[in-house]
Amino acid sequence: MPITGPYPTTRLRRLRQHEWSRDLVAEHRLSVNDLVWPLFICEEGMVIEIASMPGVVRYTLKTLPVAIKQAVDLGIRAVALFPVIDSKLKCDRGLEGTRPNNLLCQAIQIVKSISSDIGVITDVALDPYTNHGHDGVILEGDVANDETIEILTQCAVAQAQAGADVVAPSDMMDGRIGAIRYALDDAGFQKTMILSYAAKYASGFYGPFREALGSASQLGKKGKHTYQMHSANRNEALREGLQDIEEGADILMVKPGLPYLDIVYELKAHFHMPTFVYHVSGEYAMLRAAADNGWLDYERTLMETMLSFKRAGADAILTYAACHVAEQLSK
Ligand code: PBG
Repeated sequence: MPITGPYPTTRLRRLRQHEWSRDLVAEHRLSVNDLVWPLFICEEGMVIEIASMPGVVRYTLKTLPVAIKQAVDLGIRAVALFPVIDSKLKCDRGLEGTRPNNLLCQAIQIVKSISSDIGVITDVALDPYTNHGHDGVILEGDVANDETIEILTQCAVAQAQAGADVVAPSDMMDGRIGAIRYALDDAGFQKTMILSYAAKYASGFYGPFREALGSASQLGKKGKHTYQMHSANRNEALREGLQDIEEGADILMVKPGLPYLDIVYELKAHFHMPTFVYHVSGEYAMLRAAADNGWLDYERTLMETMLSFKRAGADAILTYAACHVAEQLSK
């Protein structure tokens, strides 16, 4: 029988024989320089544990320094802060988000006062502050784009004023990147970076996050489908990316991560922009739940997941398991 392929002269298994040769030819690597740690910040006296995210806690302004020192010691490059707001401070327009000394702004100042070695990324969205849990102002039964942007720009400026290095709009309003860029520049914050949640999908994997924030209860039947992207779409992610780049985004992000690796790949391949991926709460919960039941090896599947993000083209990864990953990497 004629030999049709290069086998047996080419044997792909040859390089896989030894750990050293596998290492030498590894195409992608994960390092602590790839990690961003998302942190929940709450008021004193609120519930600390998050039932659907074992191992993740809400920090108060008092306990936040411990977390930041841990992150700095492990070499984690940035934290992403998410405030959990007392329901008494919520309103239908989310105006607490614009208040210069709100919980998030105080948290930013605390992180900055502890270390200049760690970047501070802040969420620009109204859902922590609205009593209906949507990412914007509701007019005529839907989140109103331009009215929401107006408030978001004020949130971003307040965050920059408090010392945020990177503001990260996660709301998916059209035109918010440009509006935020102009507002920041106008207020003297030309150096503040914008990380755009460019391709953010309407996903069931945000469930545990909404529990952590206490923002899930009132979303209604439509959920966030009128502003977050449909899971079926890939071309649209490129249009979102292009729009945000043209409006001045410094970094693009894809969210969730694992179910959208193709989107990470596409955005990176098309735009060659710094591209981040968010390993979201539900992805973390899945891994933890299976591991806690003894069904999966946590370390192994976690590291494999992280490497898959790098292989898809992500430059950095937001993950609740950042400390765990950093510890594994230092072994
Ligand atoms: C909302 C926001 C969400 C997440 C980050 N910012 C949830 C949502 O859109 O409802 C989700 C993060 C996660 O699930 O880990 N602005």
